[in-house]
Amino acid sequence: MSATETVVRLVFLGAAACFVIGLHLMNSPRSARHGSVVSMVGMICAGVAALVLIAVQGAITPVGWIVAIAGLAIGGGFGLYIARTVKMTAIPQLVSLFNAVGGGAAALLAVHDLTLGVQVGGTVAITAGLDIIIGGVTFSGSLIAAGKLQGIVTGSPVKIPAGKLVNGVLAVAFVAGVVWLVADSTSPGALILTCAAALLFGVTMVLPIGGADMPVVISLLNAFTGLAVGMAGFVLDATVLIIAGALVGAAGTILTVLMAEAMNRSILSIIVGGFGTGDSVSTVGGPGGDVSVRQVSADDVAIQLAYAQRVLVVPGYGLAAAQAQHELAELGKVLGEHGVDVGYAIHPVAGRMPGHMNVLLAEANVPYPQLKEMDEANPLFPQTDVALVVGANDVTNPAARRPGNPVSGMPILDVDKAKSVVVIKRSMGKGYAGLDNELYTDPKTGMFFSDAKAGLAEITAAIKTLVA
Ligand code: TAP
Repeated sequence: MSATETVVRLVFLGAAACFVIGLHLMNSPRSARHGSVVSMVGMICAGVAALVLIAVQGAITPVGWIVAIAGLAIGGGFGLYIARTVKMTAIPQLVSLFNAVGGGAAALLAVHDLTLGVQVGGTVAITAGLDIIIGGVTFSGSLIAAGKLQGIVTGSPVKIPAGKLVNGVLAVAFVAGVVWLVADSTSPGALILTCAAALLFGVTMVLPIGGADMPVVISLLNAFTGLAVGMAGFVLDATVLIIAGALVGAAGTILTVLMAEAMNRSILSIIVGGFGTGDSVSTVGGPGGDVSVRQVSADDVAIQLAYAQRVLVVPGYGLAAAQAQHELAELGKVLGEHGVDVGYAIHPVAGRMPGHMNVLLAEANVPYPQLKEMDEANPLFPQTDVALVVGANDVTNPAARRPGNPVSGMPILDVDKAKSVVVIKRSMGKGYAGLDNELYTDPKTGMFFSDAKAGLAEITAAIKTLVA
């Protein structure tokens, strides 16, 4: 091994260390930014080192260089543009698209190796087959998931006729494809069978899954991306890909398990049967329809909050959609200065992606000790004077405690146990899971119909006048 190659491999080792340290720093919102920077530096070093290795080994033609550099420029430029311009509320779709390209790229690496016309050994054929299967499933499944989140594909569960049978047939096709590849890795038929089965399975797996289960699906597909990249590392004998893939796979798997627990879903049943498919039950009537709720004004809410001892705020997707985190932080600050004990109850799947609320509130400089995870917050509700729900819906719906509806079994924030409840939202509109919320008809709930940003600013102004 030449000196340059030795240096390149040491850089790969350093990059792998950066990934591990970066992930560790992401454990806490305080150090998460540093974690991103450290991981990014590791990724840049690994990319540059890979290019140097290719140059030293002379493994690429001049045309190959042009293609590689053009690919880097176009892909990198496009990635940079969408990452900078994407709205906070569209991040899950973006993550899903990144999963799709990650899985697709990993599968293409194996496809490329198998189309070189050289018979490969059994182990390589098996890993290449697994790479194509996992990468292909991730590619098509993530595209469907992104389409569902973007509203291009219906968010409601799509029932595939004889779905379990179809999935069973596709599973048999996977095994047959890999066995065929082991027997003859140069066979186009084996490659086409494996690719087609994988791409179809991604579609049949994600289409039947309902909106309320999408977080679990996205983090599962993220774990698949890592696995596919790891497999590609085995095929290419690239240690750094194996390490990076293993880290993404492990992190994605842990997140999937945590998400599934937070929504009380079994991962296996999500993949096999499609969950979130409960009947859409109307519990309180249509939007603004035949139900009577108690409406309150900004002044009413201001009085309630200013004279409370403890206020627990429950932020949800509507807060993110309205970009109202700064107005919420200001309200919390004013109440705190007035001697009110303010906390923020964070549901693990509030919003549209894991950690959505923590990120938003950290951005608005809400003091970290005031954030309460669900397990910590729920025992506090009975001693809470006002639970202030801002643009959250499903995560507060008491219907989750009953079977037979799309949120059944999902652990919720026990907002209804507070002494009084104020809900800020624009209308009687439903949440992500598409069902009405009986919390709104509870006699102790006051509905303040407003956009979160404008409503919070109005309430803060009213409190300032009140306590001046
Ligand atoms: P949702 O149940 O989606 O409810 C959000 C509410 O915000 C809506 O009812 C909407 O009512 C209101 N809203 C929208 N824009 C608003 C604005 N500008 N100002 C004020 N209110 C506004 O949100 P949630 O309680 O946070 O629950 C999250 C849901 O998303 C769960 O079902 C979860 O499973 C799902 N999900 C979560 C994730 C993760 S990992 N967090 C990922 C995907 C899906 P109006 O229209 O009446 O205003």
